[in-house]
Amino acid sequence: MTSTDESMSSTESIIGRSDINDLEAILSVTNTERDEVIHIVADNADAIFTWDYEKGARPQLNKLYEKAKRSQWNGETDLPWDTEVDQEKVVMENSLANGGIFTQDMDMSGTPFAKWGDKEWIQLGCESQNWTLSQFMHGEQGALICTAKIVETVPWIDAKYYASTQVMDEARHVEVFAKYLDEKLSGHYPINAHLGMLLDDIVTDSRWDMTYLGMQIMVEGLALAAFGFIHQLTTEPLLKQLLRYVMSDEARHVAFGVLSLKEHYQELNGAEIRERQEFAFEAAVRMRDRFLQQEVWERMGLPVKDTVQLVMNSPERELFQQMLFTKIVPNCKKLGLLDAGDGWLRTKFGELGVIQFEDWADTGEEYDAFSIEQEIAAKQAGSVA
Ligand SMILES: [Fe+2]
Ligand SMILES: [Fe+2]
Repeated sequence: MTSTDESMSSTESIIGRSDINDLEAILSVTNTERDEVIHIVADNADAIFTWDYEKGARPQLNKLYEKAKRSQWNGETDLPWDTEVDQEKVVMENSLANGGIFTQDMDMSGTPFAKWGDKEWIQLGCESQNWTLSQFMHGEQGALICTAKIVETVPWIDAKYYASTQVMDEARHVEVFAKYLDEKLSGHYPINAHLGMLLDDIVTDSRWDMTYLGMQIMVEGLALAAFGFIHQLTTEPLLKQLLRYVMSDEARHVAFGVLSLKEHYQELNGAEIRERQEFAFEAAVRMRDRFLQQEVWERMGLPVKDTVQLVMNSPERELFQQMLFTKIVPNCKKLGLLDAGDGWLRTKFGELGVIQFEDWADTGEEYDAFSIEQEIAAKQAGSVA
């Protein structure tokens, strides 16, 4: 067996297909439980008590915890919910300001898009927004559950303290995305199957550090990049502020992952690190697959496979998909995952077309740049006076 064959069979065992771009296989994964209300996953973990209560034994985690306590905001009262949102108008303004999903000079003849007028493009914009924010909301619930699990499973008191503040942050995030969807947009979507599969895998893993890798490094790393992208592009002031507040929390969460795993990974052997690399790769592929938004094309009555093919060929889309990895890749590098074991993950991120972000800022340090602590302090001082 050549080394290429080996890597192909290992790709298949990790993500269930040998070619990461096999569209048929990607689209065959669909949500078959669209009407379910309760979803049960066994979390397979031991709850760990520690009798070592020395606060600040891990100074960076302690610093993060103190900062989190000063950075709590209230989703009901700190956002301008009285803002009128005319979703169709916002879609038009956003596309005037930023362009659509396809470049102007792409040849649409012979595709269903050739016959589209303003009405269909606006409807697509609204559905895409409903879909995107619905997936964020589901991902936030994943973070809520994962972080509650970390409170139970991590053996360090400073990490338990910090994780407890993150549980509160995530409750607030689920709350504000759900409220925005209900009050300002025009419909929810069930969880995307690729995202659901990833969240199930993260929750199911019994090893405490895998929860961190799946959630804090991969899912939240991607969320931080995606929120930043949309925050920059949206012309709607309520969503802009909502995202800025959520991002200030997310940056801390990703830093929590980087700081905790940096310490833990020093104690792992080569085989154990390889398992972490494979998990990071699996998560990266699942998240890329979910962004093909197959449910939106279906709801628009378009042939899903042809449409996804077209979207994948759009340079705009390509750029957006790559941008989602701007936090994940440098953070994996900081953790030593890119280059361990002959650089297996480096090769895989190369195949995904995202390795060029390796030297961008990692989130272990940059969380301060996202801080809204001063703003919260000013608000609280104002309400006391
Ligand atoms: Fe969150
Ligand atoms: Fe988070």
